[in-house]
Amino acid sequence: MIIFSFPNYKKFTQKLIEGSDIKEGEFTISRFPDLELYLLLKTNVVNQECLVVGNINPPDENLLATLLLCHTLKKEGALKVTLILPYMAYARQDKHKPGESMATSLVASMISFAGVDKVITVDVHSQHVAKLFPIPFQSLSIAELFAQEINKLNLGEFTLVAPDANAHITNQEIAKHLKGKVELAYLEKERKTGDEISHLGLQGEVLKNAVIVDDILETGGSLVSAVEILKDKGAEKISIFVTHGIFAGSKWRKLFEMGVEQIFITNTLGGLPSVSREDESKIKVISIIPLLRKALGIE
Ligand code: R5P
Repeated sequence: MIIFSFPNYKKFTQKLIEGSDIKEGEFTISRFPDLELYLLLKTNVVNQECLVVGNINPPDENLLATLLLCHTLKKEGALKVTLILPYMAYARQDKHKPGESMATSLVASMISFAGVDKVITVDVHSQHVAKLFPIPFQSLSIAELFAQEINKLNLGEFTLVAPDANAHITNQEIAKHLKGKVELAYLEKERKTGDEISHLGLQGEVLKNAVIVDDILETGGSLVSAVEILKDKGAEKISIFVTHGIFAGSKWRKLFEMGVEQIFITNTLGGLPSVSREDESKIKVISIIPLLRKALGIE
């Protein structure tokens, strides 16, 4: 088996295959003078099973590069191509809304058209995404991993809060692995624009200790709004767990100003994003590599 990865997943990939028989494959990517992307495969893949650790964030150029790699592998005789997308960008445009793009569906078709046989991702935005893929699609659950870390916080009684309906489904899974008494609560959310949301109401009881879990921290707007509501309802100590820490812009910094002591993220974006030293000390990275190794059968 041969694995290919993009620069920001190099270290991640080396850890992923540590101690296994999987070899790293090579390719280069450059641009023609008219700026077209050009990929050159440097490893023989005839009759080989290939894994690609794909990077589609930021999406556009990286998505095309990932597609070119998968397509070239198949064209050069690879037996099977499994695309690992630790973070599946474009997963939030998964519903048909009149006049709006439904990018998840297009991206799913493009990945399949490029010759990919299977996609493995982590905590994809919604359960609906899998239905848009014409090929096998597996989203690994972070429920047990997050539950282990939450248990280590020894919070006693606490409320596990979802800032939207999708996160509530994840929280129901997490709760199965939690020790002690846990209340489940969720917020109803409405997205107005790409970076503007409003929370409509809170279902459930809020205790003094609260843990918020969401799939993505992009601008942090959803979490800032959730923290405001929880504090209003009497929460005093709030911890945040998100799977994909994008940290775009600076709105998310308000979370620390509001008293959130720590934000737990995973390394689905390859590692810690570029944040200041001070912020870095408040962001804890949980590795999803054991999850992926298990899914790939690497012991
Ligand atoms: C959206 O529905 C997702 O589950 C996240 O809540 C959202 O993408 C977070 O974005 P932001 O951090 O910009 O509010």
